[in-house]
Amino acid sequence: MKILTVIGARPQFIKAAALSKEILKHNDIKEIIVHTGQHFDTNMSSVFFEEMKIPKPDYYLDINSLSHGAMTGRMLEEIEKIILSEKPDFVLVYGDTNSTLAGALAAKKLHIKVVHVEAGLRSFDMNMPEEINRILTDQISDILFCPTETAVNNLKEEGFFKKQNIKIVKSGDIMFDSVLLFKQNMKKPEIDLPENFILATLHRQENTDNYNRITKIIDAFNKLTEQGINIVLPLHPRTSKIIKKLNLKVDFKTIDPVSYFEMIYLLENSKLVITDSGGLQKEAYFFNKYCITLRDTTEWVELVENGYNTLIDFDKDIFSQIINLIDKKIDNSKFLYGDGKTSQIIINQLKNNL
Ligand code: UD1
Repeated sequence: MKILTVIGARPQFIKAAALSKEILKHNDIKEIIVHTGQHFDTNMSSVFFEEMKIPKPDYYLDINSLSHGAMTGRMLEEIEKIILSEKPDFVLVYGDTNSTLAGALAAKKLHIKVVHVEAGLRSFDMNMPEEINRILTDQISDILFCPTETAVNNLKEEGFFKKQNIKIVKSGDIMFDSVLLFKQNMKKPEIDLPENFILATLHRQENTDNYNRITKIIDAFNKLTEQGINIVLPLHPRTSKIIKKLNLKVDFKTIDPVSYFEMIYLLENSKLVITDSGGLQKEAYFFNKYCITLRDTTEWVELVENGYNTLIDFDKDIFSQIINLIDKKIDNSKFLYGDGKTSQIIINQLKNNL
């Protein structure tokens, strides 16, 4: 069996690390890795390959820093060429980025089976590029691996169960596999870490490209700092550019993007997580930390329903909402995201569907 995997953005490297390790256990499976180059800085890309020993990509496309259309279009063109020459049995894509959509579309047009890992998630906000990418990718996928029951139900609602020749599998969440695989490798970042800190991240387009919103968020973080509450925020390049452009005053601790091993150290040692990332909301839960989400919606609704996560209301004061939640503790003994064997489930299914 030949699987062609398309990855390009940081969270996809973390997911691929778990699945590629599982693939290496099977002599009858060959994986071809295509890295689109969407993320290209060392600390956004190569550090993950080195640290988690992800096999070196067979193809590196170096497509980045373009508008959505140009980026997706160029990826589509290049991935198509690779599929034509490699002739894989499956093209496997993760999540909801432009690299995901480009990989799925290139494969489907060539009648190669599309495998979507992290299928069925919805924020119901079509202003998000990720929502567009995930809906379109699901529509053209042949095998859809859903991390949660909610994701399966979303597909049901959209009529997927009436479709012929597709397979929907509740597989659990592959990010849980990664946590279990690498937890023992956690590594302290080489920075002075304050006591009792909040771990924050901020990069989503709906926050960074809405200048009013990003200003309000940074102001709230500054106010928390003024009150003696420590924040550590690894800064995504997108956010860094906008902060410079708007000349925003930042009083809290920002650091360069960290590796996965460093991130899990920060998660383990933080008191609370504030984020607009999808992955980090779940990772907060895996590390038994309460999460405040800087978004209007979340795809991980079970976290909110179970009282592990709160969405910020941007029409109200952000600082006071955070202050009210700051001492929240959680008990993550419920298994919301499977049992950490998602990679095995995926590979077994692919073997059955060859
Ligand atoms: C992308 C995904 C998002 C995911 C995120 C994870 C899409 C539509 N969005 O958003 O779903 O949550 O990755 O991080 O695919 N940049 C650098 N160096 C890098 C990477 C990016 O400077 O290594 C810059 C780019 O040039 C661009 C900006 O950051 O100016 C945004 O990068 P882009 O890949 O377009 O989107 P992300 O915000 O990373």
